Amino acid sequence: MQWGDEGKGKVVDILAEKSDLVVRFGGGANAGHTVIIGDQKFALHIMPSGAVRPSAACVISNGVVLDPEILIGEIEGLAGRDISMDGRLYISENAHVVLDYHKMEDQLRENALGKNKIGTTIRGIGPCYADKVGRSYAVRMADFRNMDALAERIRKIVDYKNKVFGAVYNAEPIDADALIEKCKVYREKLAGFVCNTTRLLHEAMEGGKNILFEGAQGALLDLDHGTIPFVTSSNCSALGMGPGCGVPNQKVDRFIGLVKAYTTRVGAGPFPTEQDNEVGDIIREKGHEYGTTTGRPRRCGWFDAVAAKYAASVGGINEIAMMHLDTLAGMKELKICKAYKLNGEETDFFPSDADELSSVECLYDTLDGWDEDLSGVTRYDDLPENTKNYVRRVEEIVKVPVTIVGVGPKRSQAIFRNV
Ligand code: GDP
Ligand code: IMO
Ligand code: MG
Repeated sequence: MQWGDEGKGKVVDILAEKSDLVVRFGGGANAGHTVIIGDQKFALHIMPSGAVRPSAACVISNGVVLDPEILIGEIEGLAGRDISMDGRLYISENAHVVLDYHKMEDQLRENALGKNKIGTTIRGIGPCYADKVGRSYAVRMADFRNMDALAERIRKIVDYKNKVFGAVYNAEPIDADALIEKCKVYREKLAGFVCNTTRLLHEAMEGGKNILFEGAQGALLDLDHGTIPFVTSSNCSALGMGPGCGVPNQKVDRFIGLVKAYTTRVGAGPFPTEQDNEVGDIIREKGHEYGTTTGRPRRCGWFDAVAAKYAASVGGINEIAMMHLDTLAGMKELKICKAYKLNGEETDFFPSDADELSSVECLYDTLDGWDEDLSGVTRYDDLPENTKNYVRRVEEIVKVPVTIVGVGPKRSQAIFRNV
């Protein structure tokens, strides 16, 4: 429900205990989802966070842009930690493939933009989705079934990209043969996982299976509903689920929106509640707010309830999971942005125009903080009164109940609440 990194990996891992299937339906290796179990830490980029629960099968559906090199690294990394994906990973034949020239273009374009850059993760996301939409130069997992045809296709694509990158960016040409050799390895390691995941999911639903859909990024980075150009290239709000995996939203019982008890953002773009000061520094250090994928320091600020309310409306969110409440301990007072002033008028509707969002003034509620360390609390009722007040105020503004709260990064540090 924010700009990503809300703790999806942790919550998905917890909910995966009761799930037969966990589905990643969008984004690519721009995501970085952290799961911490005991003293073991996993940072997953493409693999669904259900991977660390051997009882759950994992699906990478058609909406994902799949970087084979990174996925193979994840499969092998998990195997090295005694977690096998054999027989429990299903990759859509319609997932589009991120290849070297996508990552190259991402980098070239960001460099050329200079101070106007988006601050992408350089994982080739935008260029790969652009090729998907453009169709003529798209490569899907299904294309790996016929290597001769794929080799011919890659030669044509590389020829085109080399002409364009050379003319526009004066870039060194890509070697098509070397890329084709890499593709042979991708095929060898991944072909066995590729299938029709839409069919698989519909059969699983008919069989009464529990399915958990894992979003990536955050609603405010949604291509259509975030502040373009400072967004990612997919519908990464809950709206993207249907097209991203072929399961209509009305089949889904619960839409759980993730937030942090404050707000963070990586990359460029407007961020009304940003605290580029001591408050932001305290949150960053206490919350370890450094990117899981790029290691960049995350920009930190107060909880933006206007943005969260918008994200809830757009995504059809009916429950909120609020992580990192523990991180706010020790702050004398806490602020929650309840409305914006835009062009002199008060509004509680989030403007998705980047220039408008850059110009808003935040209207805050100020609440008393708490000093207690929350990391060992296991029952909601045992949280300090001021913590519960804080959660209540968010619920009042966003108008969605908070059903899960996070009090630390570990699997055990989430409190479920009946409301
Ligand atoms: P994701 O992209 O939404 O999966 O989130 P990331 O993994 O990129 O970033 C979330 C970070 O917060 C990770 O380092 C998690 O281990 C950590 N985390 C998740 N929930 C909590 C929590 O309740 N408290 C604290 N202190 N850390 C948390
Ligand atoms: P998870 O799933 C936070 C941001 C980038 C950049 C913008 C566009 O871990 O929450 P892109 O590489 O997608 O073209 O970059 O989107 N971004 C994320 N920020 N968490 C993510 O994923 C992100 N994925 C992309 O920083 O501002
Ligand atoms: Mg992340």
